[in-house]
Amino acid sequence: MMKKGIFITVEGIDGSGKTTQINFIKNYMEEKGYSVVLTREPGGTKIGEKIRAIILDPENKEMDSITEMLLYASARAQLISELIKSAIDEGKVVICDRFVDSSFAYQGYGRGIDIELITRVNDIAIRGIKPDITFWFDIPPEDALKRRKTSSSSDRIEREKIDFYNRVYDGYSILAKTYPERIKRIDATRDIEQVSMDIKIWLDKIINRAL
Ligand code: TYD
Repeated sequence: MMKKGIFITVEGIDGSGKTTQINFIKNYMEEKGYSVVLTREPGGTKIGEKIRAIILDPENKEMDSITEMLLYASARAQLISELIKSAIDEGKVVICDRFVDSSFAYQGYGRGIDIELITRVNDIAIRGIKPDITFWFDIPPEDALKRRKTSSSSDRIEREKIDFYNRVYDGYSILAKTYPERIKRIDATRDIEQVSMDIKIWLDKIINRAL
């Protein structure tokens, strides 16, 4: 029997420096001989990218928060069925930039939608696929905002005010405390190299199936 793949998700508020570290994870796992699939949410499929455009369009100011939550879950359902499930079955490493925890943090804690409802909707979308490990890039919202260029090109979510990001941040903290065996808090205020060293330690544990 072929060995099962590894599903890694990466989370954090916008501007937490996820992208650089995602590339580190990809290169490291490839060095270790894995075939790596890199994807992102919302998006990652043709249909998902269309849904992403609707969600992030700054013109869609009237979007209802339940509509938003369902759209994220729809893009997720397509990504799971089209890409993630088969890649894991084929023994690959799948790295996903954001997953269900983003819906808990942003739609749940940020927008105030009931967590139980988000769980039920997403259970339909993910069909039993759960991350083996989730890296949460912990950076105070104020710092993250500073890192991000507040330009006219910011998307609909990025235009939210600091209060929203504070709630999202609190949401991630609660999630990390609730699922410590899965969600690893990474102090993202440090140098790129230091952050990568932390991640490497966890990846080695995952590779040796010691987690
Ligand atoms: P993206 O440009 O991918 O943001 P980032 O580069 O910070 O990851 O845009 C995704 C946005 O959507 C981001 O602001 C977080 C938000 N989001 C949710 O609100 N709920 C979700 O379930 C997901 C996957 C993302």
